[in-house]
Amino acid sequence: MADLAIEVGAFEPIPETSAGERVVADVLAIGAPDVDAERVRGSVPVWFHTFALAPGIYTPGIARDHGYRLAVLGADRFAGRSVLDIGAFDGFYSFLAEVRGARRVVSVDNEQYVDWVRARFGVTLQGGVGFRAIAGLLASRVEYQRMDALDVRELGERFDVVVCFGILHRVSDPMRLLRALADVLAPGGEIVLETYGSRLAADAPAIEVHEPGEVYARDDFVYWGFSPEGLRRLARIVGLDDVEVVDELEIDGHPRILAVLRAAG
Ligand SMILES: C[S@@+](CC[C@H](N)C(=O)[O-])C[C@H]1O[C@@H](n2cnc3c(N)ncnc32)[C@H](O)[C@@H]1O
Repeated sequence: MADLAIEVGAFEPIPETSAGERVVADVLAIGAPDVDAERVRGSVPVWFHTFALAPGIYTPGIARDHGYRLAVLGADRFAGRSVLDIGAFDGFYSFLAEVRGARRVVSVDNEQYVDWVRARFGVTLQGGVGFRAIAGLLASRVEYQRMDALDVRELGERFDVVVCFGILHRVSDPMRLLRALADVLAPGGEIVLETYGSRLAADAPAIEVHEPGEVYARDDFVYWGFSPEGLRRLARIVGLDDVEVVDELEIDGHPRILAVLRAAG
């Protein structure tokens, strides 16, 4: 059973699972027996990802409308490849990569979310609790490391694909993070990147700077918003000249950007 502490205060209620998230969850239908599915769902006080544990039994993930990310997550992206998932949280994308044929998956998270989950919802999560619960159901071989993404060189390994979703806007030095990820790419490897976007013009060579708590109340870790040209320039500085901006869209009132950054072959 996870550690659970409810603190008194004006916290946000944990939202219901959205229909949009259930559609995304269904691409990784776990198919556990109902009794195991109910047990696992109840063992984690706050879920980030919505998982389809069994028919009709979903974790109540707080992440919203991830459907647009599926465009860059086809089986061809993962089959036979080695994958590093940065800022994996409950690990939906790590497990999806494994199920879609990745030969090796490593997941990294510094568990910073423990702080903002406590601040927003008044719940103290045990780091990695959701990840471990799903790994158990799937008998997964995904390797989880509590580690800062800036330290991934210490893994001593190169990867064909780095999944970097929802984190570039959360690190104080985004160029340092991109350089660290570029350094662990195999030749011809790619960073599949999704981050907070910008309402500035697409060709503006700019990055927006957000005040603490401005984007999500009580979440002080959203610093940046990236325009396509701002992202392209950052990538070029770290030696990734091939940047494909796949999508720019508004999700739940927030601009997001989805891109693939490729290393030379
Ligand atoms: C908003 S969540 C995104 C989770 C998942 N990647 C997704 O997009 O669905 C951001 C995650 O990045 C992690 N994180 C933030 N900064 C990090 C860092 N410097 N190193 C490793 N993980 C980090 C947080 O702990 C959290 O799990």
